Amino acid sequence: MEPTRTVARALVAPGKGILAADESHPTMAKRLAQVGLESTEERRRAYREILLTTPGLSEHVSGVILYDETIRQSTGDGTPFPEVLARAGIIPGIKVDGGTTPLAGAPGEVVTQGLDGLRERLAEYAGLGARFAKWRAVIRIGPGTPSAACVEANAHALARYAALAQEAGLVPVVEPEVLMDGPHSLERCASVTALTLRAVYDQLARQGVELDATLLKPSMVLPGSDAEPVGDDVIADRTIAVLRDTVPASVPGLVFLSGGQTPEQATARLDALNRRAPQPWELSFSFGRALQAPVLRAWAGRAENTGAAQAALLTRARLNGAARHGRYRPDMERQVAEALPS
Ligand code: 13P
Repeated sequence: MEPTRTVARALVAPGKGILAADESHPTMAKRLAQVGLESTEERRRAYREILLTTPGLSEHVSGVILYDETIRQSTGDGTPFPEVLARAGIIPGIKVDGGTTPLAGAPGEVVTQGLDGLRERLAEYAGLGARFAKWRAVIRIGPGTPSAACVEANAHALARYAALAQEAGLVPVVEPEVLMDGPHSLERCASVTALTLRAVYDQLARQGVELDATLLKPSMVLPGSDAEPVGDDVIADRTIAVLRDTVPASVPGLVFLSGGQTPEQATARLDALNRRAPQPWELSFSFGRALQAPVLRAWAGRAENTGAAQAALLTRARLNGAARHGRYRPDMERQVAEALPS
């Protein structure tokens, strides 16, 4: 097996980023319902097959995060999904958290579960071909939240997960998501993100995690979804300032989540961040919705739309690939889509 440091660096290779295709059953049911489809095992499999077999995907996609069901599924002709990825030169990854549960004593706040039995599950996933893992913690900004208890509990769980992932030979992707829901200001998001990241790196150090074999999956520093919008340059400046204050330079890369931004917003802001390179770490993406929303719309559950769906994925992958170099411009949206056969 490749050393974990090598895998971590390959995941953030120039021009490339990660496709998050690790929606849990409830989340996938929500996404499919948005295009009028019911979530069945075969439909989830057929949809994921379209994503993973997109020709040319590896040009801008270094790795794909799978879900427990997905890592065990195969293409119509019987090739296991992790093998499809490995053959295409794409690194298979796996979501290993068990989702969130209400945090006792902290109304409205959640902690991520899934540490029990994690050592055994990580070993099984490594055997199935996974080379990296993901664990998502959720921090909600509200009046009086996040509480110190919530931040500490989530940071502690992230560090225990990361240590176990490294023990199993997998690269831990450490995801403390600060939700954008609410009316809070950009400054409030900046201070909550900073205090969360400080707690996370404090715990990672205490638990002996080797930072050069990890990736951070942060949220961008944004005003709340119900607050006055600000420009992409303001977002990029504030995001970089918070990250430079809190994320050690030994972390090879930051792979941003999209978190409910539109695909175009997520790409434009990733571009603005990369126009501030060089930074100590690669500035990349690990987008779910921002890569997949147009794909789901184009597919809509019909086999005859496979080509159009794959073209939609390649379009977003190429645009985000350009943003990795700070070379994305909004007028490329049409040019790139038109250059692809559908
Ligand atoms: P979004 O980009 O849709 O936020 O998903 C990324 C992800 O994997 C969240 O855990």
